[in-house]
Amino acid sequence: MTAAIIDGKAFAAKVRAEVAGHVARLKEEHGLQPGLAVVLVGEDPASQVYVSSKGKQTVEVGMASIEHKLPADTSEAVLLDLIGKLNADPKIHGILVQLPLPAHLNSELVINTIDPAKDVDGFHISNVGLLGTGQKSMVPCTPLGCLMMLRDHHGKLAGMNAVVVGRSNIVGKPMAQLLLGDSCTVTIAHSRTKDLAAVCRGADILVAAVGRPEMITGDMVKPGATVIDVGINRIEREGKAKLVGDVHFESAAAVAGAITPVPGGVGPMTIACLLANTLTACCRAHG
Ligand code: GUN
Repeated sequence: MTAAIIDGKAFAAKVRAEVAGHVARLKEEHGLQPGLAVVLVGEDPASQVYVSSKGKQTVEVGMASIEHKLPADTSEAVLLDLIGKLNADPKIHGILVQLPLPAHLNSELVINTIDPAKDVDGFHISNVGLLGTGQKSMVPCTPLGCLMMLRDHHGKLAGMNAVVVGRSNIVGKPMAQLLLGDSCTVTIAHSRTKDLAAVCRGADILVAAVGRPEMITGDMVKPGATVIDVGINRIEREGKAKLVGDVHFESAAAVAGAITPVPGGVGPMTIACLLANTLTACCRAHG
């Protein structure tokens, strides 16, 4: 292996410590406590794990964590009513509705009902538009975490060729916007891209966010490139459950200059950025 490992776990701990410091000062100097409300509809096991992890880390940095767990058959009217109440509650500065929602609920409508100023996921259409036009917005947590790691590793990113594999609204598209904002030359590749390997080999920065286990292999990586693996895929290998990314780690690490591991790369940064966004929302709400 030649690549340097980008330690997302350690970086996330640093971000959380900084957030905790700010939260303590807000309490001391202004009597304010940032509050994050997380809404979970249904009993999806992966979502339950994420939500309890978010709650724990929210409390650890000194914020108030409010969890609303609703049954899978909750009606849209009930969910929208809850969001309306959270929008109006001055103690709540951030609102996150855990996705995916059960199929009978209209996710777009639900997300767009959140007050954009409290939309710590950055998924509201207003925040998407603000990000796309380079204006101050709430930035989606996973791409923000990736950008922070890239800036930390490289300093300035201007002029670098960045390839984002994946075009989701949650990661691929906002990631491309953020990289463009840092003056990278950005390509978005996806399942219909012709000669994906050749496109990827043009990347100084390669971000894999496709949700397919170990799809990006070493032969698709330019020597010395920085590889950011957003994938979290649970697979079974040799009879054992294993967590792997969208990148085939061993082969990619033999070629790349730097790489994020799974677990311990992008994952921990996502929640750290959620906490940072909640702090930002609280500070903006109180001028
Ligand atoms: N489900 C998986 N990732 C996310 C996320 O970043 N935000 C929300 N709301 N749901 C998710």
